[in-house]
Amino acid sequence: MRVIRDAAELRAVSQAWHAAGERIALVPTMGYLHEGHLALVARARELAPRVIATIFVNPTQFAPHEDLGRYPRDEAGDIAKLEAAGCDVLFAPSVEVMYPAGFATRIAMSGPAEGLEGTHRPQMFAGVALVCTRLFGMSGADVAVFGEKDWQQVMVVRRVVEDLALPITIETVPTIRAADGLALSSRNAYLDPEARVKAAAMHAALSYAAERLRAGATAAEACGEAEERLREAGFRQVDYVALRSERGFEEMEKLSEPGRVLGAAWLRQVRLIDNVTKSG
Ligand code: PAF
Repeated sequence: MRVIRDAAELRAVSQAWHAAGERIALVPTMGYLHEGHLALVARARELAPRVIATIFVNPTQFAPHEDLGRYPRDEAGDIAKLEAAGCDVLFAPSVEVMYPAGFATRIAMSGPAEGLEGTHRPQMFAGVALVCTRLFGMSGADVAVFGEKDWQQVMVVRRVVEDLALPITIETVPTIRAADGLALSSRNAYLDPEARVKAAAMHAALSYAAERLRAGATAAEACGEAEERLREAGFRQVDYVALRSERGFEEMEKLSEPGRVLGAAWLRQVRLIDNVTKSG
């Protein structure tokens, strides 16, 4: 696997592949890779003969008080995992490569960026939209693969691709979970052993809400009860448990069309997010 840090070198590699008639799949990540990321690489390999993974802890999607400085990193370990997974190129640029002096473009998002994560992390989706647009342009990829764990992010990226007429398609891979249901996430590294045990309650609570909705409960009832379960399990603050439509990411009072239950809550200083579709 070739490790590239320079945008011009990445462009040259991607142009050569396209000239040879080879499609390119992109897997954008912030590193500290786990099985969830490797499932994205595996899907990328099914979609295209050439796979580029990216590792960039994107400062524009973090607020000043968030965990940018302590976000877990292990580039050597990530390179070994990507090599074993059959990735062709790792693009691991510096902040200066992604946002060079004079960089002045911002993307203001509404629609699926509003509410839920957009309320609790107001800077996040403008930053995600910006970095993804830039990574799509730099890589020239034909398809990009994202995890369903960050479902609202998937909705936002799809919206950006459509609105800006970007020549790329977006594919998703279902969330990979630990045996107790906890969605794999690089931020799980922040959980101490006791919090790690309690963290399983997130998936259980969202699955419970999904079952209640399927049985006819309203979103207010099902999500309210799931929030209560999270508090009983030791989550100190529940940011939201909410039902949104699968297709348009719209609020629904009942499960009147395919939907997802999304949640975000704090276990001590660690914020967990997850979502389930059907009964989880
Ligand atoms: O999901 C992530 O890891 C990040 O938000 C992404 C898509 C790599 C953009 O920085």
